[in-house]
Amino acid sequence: MEKLHKIKSSVFPVIAYRKFGNGPAIVLLHGFPEDGGLWAQIWDALAEQFTVIVPDLPGSGESTWNSENITIEQMAESVHEVMKQERIETAVIAGHSMGGYTAMAFAELYPECLQGLSLVHSLAGADTEEKKETRRKSIELIRKGGKEPFVKQMIPNLFAKDFKEEHPDVIKRQIERGLRLKPDNLVAFYNAMINRPDRTRILSGLGCPVQWIIGKEDNIASPENVLKQSKLAIVNFVSIYNGCGHMSMLEKPVSLSKDLRDFSKYCYRLNK
Ligand code: MLT
Repeated sequence: MEKLHKIKSSVFPVIAYRKFGNGPAIVLLHGFPEDGGLWAQIWDALAEQFTVIVPDLPGSGESTWNSENITIEQMAESVHEVMKQERIETAVIAGHSMGGYTAMAFAELYPECLQGLSLVHSLAGADTEEKKETRRKSIELIRKGGKEPFVKQMIPNLFAKDFKEEHPDVIKRQIERGLRLKPDNLVAFYNAMINRPDRTRILSGLGCPVQWIIGKEDNIASPENVLKQSKLAIVNFVSIYNGCGHMSMLEKPVSLSKDLRDFSKYCYRLNK
């Protein structure tokens, strides 16, 4: 079991994170409904060359918050707190889905701390009205005690068809991971995502490269939608994985590790 470091901040009673390796920093942000352990098949390969920081976002894993609501911006602040604690001035930040929304908020709040931004099955835009409505229905279900049916229905939908059929054990583990989150926190995350603004305009002003990781069978961050945004930054790295849904860190860990490593090397101008 990896070691968890824990700090307190004025806003968060506990921010837990993992730290591996040495060298320039990469921060890996998980999505919903997950925790930092999601990146377990990725962090060792990156730690050969980089310092890898993997937080549990507030309200996930061992990290907590003490109000009823959370915002995506507060989650970005928690990432900044961890970087301050570790005396990391700049990092490549890779965010998966909701972690990518958090990375976009970080890019707006602390652009000077960003060496590179990797959006792993994620988008810079806001929810569409249709998506907000679907989330509100899920919130209603969770509030009525339906956390379990919600998680059991949503998790399989994150994976590509063949992967899902061939790896029922992985789907089961992800459902268990999702069920560890408290219903109130699931609701708070959904509200945070509903309320996040469109940050597409930030991409063109970013002073760092942006990476786009796309799953051809992703139902959440569809290739069509991500590709539309993937030309907006000044330098864009685009990878499209066949036979992959929304979860390349589980479906295509070797390709994702390599792409994150190559992108980070480019961002830090490393030759080897
Ligand atoms: C995630 O993986 O973080 C969520 O699916 C994001 C979302 O629902 O937009």
